[in-house]
Amino acid sequence: MPKSVRPLIAGNWKMNGLGASLAEALTLAEALTEIPANARVALCPPFTLIGRMATALKGSTVEIGAQDVHPQASGAYTGDIAAAMLADAGATLVIVGHSERRTMHGETDADVAKKVEAALASGLEPIVCVGETLEERKSGKAEAIVCGQIEGSLPKVLEGRAFSVAYEPVWAIGTGLTPSNEEIVAMHAAIRAAIVDRVGETGRKAAILYGGSVKPANAMEILALPEVGGALVGGASLKAADFLPIVRAI
Ligand code: 13P
Repeated sequence: MPKSVRPLIAGNWKMNGLGASLAEALTLAEALTEIPANARVALCPPFTLIGRMATALKGSTVEIGAQDVHPQASGAYTGDIAAAMLADAGATLVIVGHSERRTMHGETDADVAKKVEAALASGLEPIVCVGETLEERKSGKAEAIVCGQIEGSLPKVLEGRAFSVAYEPVWAIGTGLTPSNEEIVAMHAAIRAAIVDRVGETGRKAAILYGGSVKPANAMEILALPEVGGALVGGASLKAADFLPIVRAI
């Protein structure tokens, strides 16, 4: 990856985890007194665990992120959560535009861009997710779709701010399937160009994470590819014994 990029390995727990799962986070943090390659490590638990995880991991190397945020700062939005609440609970990062939000909750690129703005306004660092469906890849449209998502989901206010982009092919999430190395390299190069096009030189510092069936067995190979600046890990981030070797593969 380019020297200007600080790698990030983030675990997305999705809708998994009760109080007892904090033991996994603690095991991870205790093992990571030092993180290789100047990388950053984050866990993104469900909202209910953010505060407790922040307390449990205080002073550790592991950062905490949320999985979504509402675009408004406060108000009558039953069941939603504002960026200031996430920051108040101890999160410093937030995933926005995950494909599960885009497909199951109808989030558009414009919605995602507003969420990014809300995150930045509360000092949260966004991880913006993009990725094509299998049909889009098969029809040769993957790069156009993903670059379109970048253009629509990255607001101009990102200029000068820290953020990352996660490339997560929808068909690779939770399936055990991954794109070929060539496909990952080509897509990450296209994403870098699209980011720089959108937010200028700031875009050279953004880590471009790969996500979708990252496991201990394939992490080393994927993380070594040019322009892969880390990983967004789902299932394999739930257990410290799986997530640790992925972190150490950077
Ligand atoms: P899996 O690692 O379980 O495929 O999930 C990827 C993902 O969606 C992370 O955000």
